[in-house]
Amino acid sequence: MNIMGKEIRKDTPINFEIVKKNIGIYDAKNISLGNTRIVSKIVDNIESETGEKFIRMEMGVPGISPSEIGINAEINALKNNVAGIYPPVDGHSFLKKEMSRFVKLFLNIEVKPENCFPTVGSINGSYASFMVAGRRIKEKNTILFIDPGFPPHKKIVRMLGLQQESFDVNNYRGKELKDKLTEKLNKGNIAALLYSNPNNPTWICFTDEELKIISDIARENNIIVIEDLAYLGMDFRKDYSHPGQPPYQPTIANYMDNYILLISGSKAFSYAGQRIGMLIISENLSKSHFKDLLDYYTSDIFSNALIYETIFLTTAGVAQSVQYGFSEILRAANDGKYNFVDDVRVYGEKAEIMKKIFTDNGFKIVYDMDGDVPIADGFYFTVSFPGFHGDELSEKLLYYGISSIPLSSTGSLRTEGIRACVSLVQKVQMPQLEKRLNVFYGHYKENIIE
Ligand SMILES: Cc1ncc(COP(=O)(O)O)c(C=O)c1O
Repeated sequence: MNIMGKEIRKDTPINFEIVKKNIGIYDAKNISLGNTRIVSKIVDNIESETGEKFIRMEMGVPGISPSEIGINAEINALKNNVAGIYPPVDGHSFLKKEMSRFVKLFLNIEVKPENCFPTVGSINGSYASFMVAGRRIKEKNTILFIDPGFPPHKKIVRMLGLQQESFDVNNYRGKELKDKLTEKLNKGNIAALLYSNPNNPTWICFTDEELKIISDIARENNIIVIEDLAYLGMDFRKDYSHPGQPPYQPTIANYMDNYILLISGSKAFSYAGQRIGMLIISENLSKSHFKDLLDYYTSDIFSNALIYETIFLTTAGVAQSVQYGFSEILRAANDGKYNFVDDVRVYGEKAEIMKKIFTDNGFKIVYDMDGDVPIADGFYFTVSFPGFHGDELSEKLLYYGISSIPLSSTGSLRTEGIRACVSLVQKVQMPQLEKRLNVFYGHYKENIIE
């Protein structure tokens, strides 16, 4: 099917001239680039000029109130005067202990508290990890991204002056992944590879077979695997929510000892505003010496360069009260008193409804399978409309009161698609979404040739 020619429709649900003007002010290029902050700004302006509320799918911000457990622990800590004292850069011992318990109880892996560190959000953890991983061996100065991915990671690598490579995993699922990774990794220039699981933006999840393939090839080529678990526990096809009981969140840590896990507090715990993530390093990597680090650091030990130099000199550690608050959230989760996964299941419920509304109106799910199993419903999904390029579709949908980012901005080769984030869309907005997509479908279905 394709579109023969697209008529410009001015009878759109949101005032055509106002949308056009605002896109013009901020430059449509920013939509193509998936610049979420600018897309949000455009939508804020249109909303305030027209008084119409958008279906906001552009930004991956969590839409759920955090648990009271964390907030109360932060208030108590502040009342107990912690604000006047520097926080330990490697984390309070009570927090490190809960992190270590957490990865044992929810991932079924053993990591000593001394190898568990808090960072100012997972972004800070990835920044420090790229920096040290990319400097540990001179000729290994390149980060490999298994795409599609989270665009800020690529900006960080560029900012650090490191090299980067990537490939869209869509064409290399299952056994195919082995040949592609071998081709990429055996050139000797790759320092570390990163993927997110579940994946932002597509919500694909690697199978155990795929994790094993990644670990085997990474081990053979002395490559650090950085596993971004920002959406830990949120593959709702399985129930990962019970501490100490299978099934456990799948992880590369089951297969190798040269890894960094980044577990953001932002999504699984809805704690984005307080900026905390867990950086978990395998014992082997943590204690390894790399002489090339001495060109940049005073220590050649990996975790010393990472924490006591990079993290210390970028953020000087996570704020005191946040360490207290987050450790209480983890303690409650670890003790089975707080089911953090239940709090975020609503994302999956909304995705299921929204995917149906999109597909009933001529859209197609772009990334739809994990092996032979349909992908989970979760925080993100990807859609396309026949005949539209993704950036054109993202722009066009603004006239229909729906905001998104094009998949091309995430390293995806499926350039026809857009990413939809469900978090800010309210269940009461679903009829509105249906109505607007129905108008869109009405405007463009005539052009589709079967
Ligand atoms: C895959 C991925 N990694 C990391 C992050 C950033 O997490 P944090 O808020 O902890 O910095 C996000 C946020 O959207 C994400 O989607």
